[in-house]
Amino acid sequence: MKIIGFTASPRKEGNTAWTINKILEGAEERGAETQSWYFSDLDIKPCRSCNGCKKGDRGCILNDDMQKLYDAIAQADALVLGSPVYMGQMSAQAKIFTDRLYALFSPRFSPYFKEGQAKKSLTLVFTQGNPDSSKFQVYFDYTKSMFQMLEFDVQEVQVIAGMRNEPAHERKELHTAMKDIGSLLVSERSLG
Ligand SMILES: Cc1cc2nc3c(=O)[nH]c(=O)nc-3n(C[C@H](O)[C@H](O)[C@H](O)COP(=O)(O)O)c2cc1C
Repeated sequence: MKIIGFTASPRKEGNTAWTINKILEGAEERGAETQSWYFSDLDIKPCRSCNGCKKGDRGCILNDDMQKLYDAIAQADALVLGSPVYMGQMSAQAKIFTDRLYALFSPRFSPYFKEGQAKKSLTLVFTQGNPDSSKFQVYFDYTKSMFQMLEFDVQEVQVIAGMRNEPAHERKELHTAMKDIGSLLVSERSLG
């Protein structure tokens, strides 16, 4: 089983990266193969709405690092996308990535969305400064349904709140809780 994590924060050692990597660690311990991608290391341009991805079978025509991510997504069984909450929403980096998923609905990727094909599992992770984890619930619910419309099997929306008081790595309970999410991803998949 292949699981890939995406950190959509500019901080490679921040709360989001730490959380994503703990989830991947839990999955690895259960035998999954994992990969971690940091958007801070990647050049991902915004969608140009040229609809080039719908013409022919080469997918998105923008020649940037998103091409590596399309390939990685195609080969993965499960995705974990983490974003800090910025102004009550996902980060700009996460939004640019999400818009570029438009190209998944193109001839290049159509086998992945054929009837009968297992949907890719997606776990969403948000970290936020505010200690009230339900503060942006309306937005989290909306984001979950948006990814469901994109044909992902959204497993869970994990909200890590209160980062303004204590960073994620200092929260002892998060160490096991995040690893458990990764471990569960593997066992749920193996149970089918
Ligand atoms: C530009 C910006 C906007 C933010 N907006 C919010 C917000 O609306 N609500 C909130 O609770 N935290 C907000 N935060 C705090 C971050 O969500 C929080 O510190 C997060 O854990 C940072 O993740 P990182 O360490 O992975 O970069 C904001 C931080 C920045 C830099």
